[in-house]
Amino acid sequence: MGTERLATRLAAVVGPAHVLADPGLRASYETDFTGRWTGRARLVVRPGDTAQVAEVLRTCRDAGVPVLPQGGNTGLVGGSVPTPAGDQVVLSLRRLDTVGPVDPDARQITVGAGLTLAALHGRLRPQGWEFGVDLASRDSATLGGMIATNAGGERVLKYGTTRANVAGLQAVLADGTVLDRLAGLPKDNTGYDLTGLLVGSEGTLAVLTAARLRLVPRPRHRVGALLAVDSIAAATALVTRLRGLESLELAEFFTAEGLDLVLEHTGLPAPFRARHPVHLLVECAARHDPTDELADLLADADVLDVAVAVDAADRHRLAAYRERHTEAINAAGTPLKLDVTLPTAALPGFAAELPGLLDGRARPYLFGHLAEGNLHVNLLDVAPADEEAVVLAVLGRVAAAGGSISAEHGIGRAKARYLHLTRSAAEIRAMRAVKSALDPTWLLSPGTLLAGPD
Ligand code: MLT
Ligand code: ZN
Repeated sequence: MGTERLATRLAAVVGPAHVLADPGLRASYETDFTGRWTGRARLVVRPGDTAQVAEVLRTCRDAGVPVLPQGGNTGLVGGSVPTPAGDQVVLSLRRLDTVGPVDPDARQITVGAGLTLAALHGRLRPQGWEFGVDLASRDSATLGGMIATNAGGERVLKYGTTRANVAGLQAVLADGTVLDRLAGLPKDNTGYDLTGLLVGSEGTLAVLTAARLRLVPRPRHRVGALLAVDSIAAATALVTRLRGLESLELAEFFTAEGLDLVLEHTGLPAPFRARHPVHLLVECAARHDPTDELADLLADADVLDVAVAVDAADRHRLAAYRERHTEAINAAGTPLKLDVTLPTAALPGFAAELPGLLDGRARPYLFGHLAEGNLHVNLLDVAPADEEAVVLAVLGRVAAAGGSISAEHGIGRAKARYLHLTRSAAEIRAMRAVKSALDPTWLLSPGTLLAGPD
């Protein structure tokens, strides 16, 4: 079917204003945040509800047109932007941004897939509730995208990844069939866990349209601290001790090199007079004030410098040194982003070996979520001819250490050809069988996660 005819059909479903054919209007849907992943959409279509999503999918299925679901386009592995081929329809879920009432008995809320995380936090805060997942891209990241990628973020040590915070989903299959699992029952042993299957499926099995989310009562007190230590090994040991505090909610790290970029990019003042090798950002939250227990634990800890934040403004000020790494690195170049998990004991050895693995082919910046052994290995100045070898050197070392080649960003298009490094052939066969069962013509998110049909 020609693009004009397809546009007319889709306009009849969502309204002409929500079918974007003009290159200028499509542009923000076609390039990711880093600028590394860029492509061309055949059309961008913006449905306003689940019924329209289903009709759009039926129309595209009948026309044999591939569809790329997209939330806030904050993904970092190329799964949220179309390929350069120009054959995919980008299905933006951003207009599905409804928010239901908080159900205090179930401790749950139903939201549309296009709601941003910041909007959800903003809605819950005055009501005394909280969604456990939080991450730096909260202003743009949508709940649908976070669920599709099983986003992790900063509070996984306390609340788990997004998966642990989703009680149910509504989703539409490639043929337009709506699956409704929004009841959120705490006990429901009735067969396959379709919600669990769709979380982390990266838009390859269905288009997520709404979610039932688990909530927690908002802790009354929060305290934060920025700690300077002399090595990643020291930071890891400190996190092990801090985990003794039940109130510990977040333990994030970054190095001197990353902080230099953040200071240069943001103009923020340095957190300490001295330049320290490694920084650990921690936050504790509880019904009681956790300041004393944090101070007690730190009193005899091996730290070089400490800054404590007792109010929200101060906490945000300290968190900025960590959270603004992504934009500061982007400002310095187009990063090759690797996002790996290693067993905690293997972290210091990996960090020490990294320069040797890179062998002068990249400028590395390390930061991330230390409690989960999740390192963001951001590489600048990698020559295109070296990319493949550099990625294989790093991911191969991670796989050999028993880690994962994607901790929280997903596989996307960036890592699809490396999936075999940490998933067995039998597992990949099973995944492909599930994909073929739910999306028989492989029209959803082609090239993401699994390379393509046989
Ligand atoms: C973060 O932890 O800030 C995000 O995963 C983004 C990134 O890795 O750049
Ligand atoms: Zn992260």
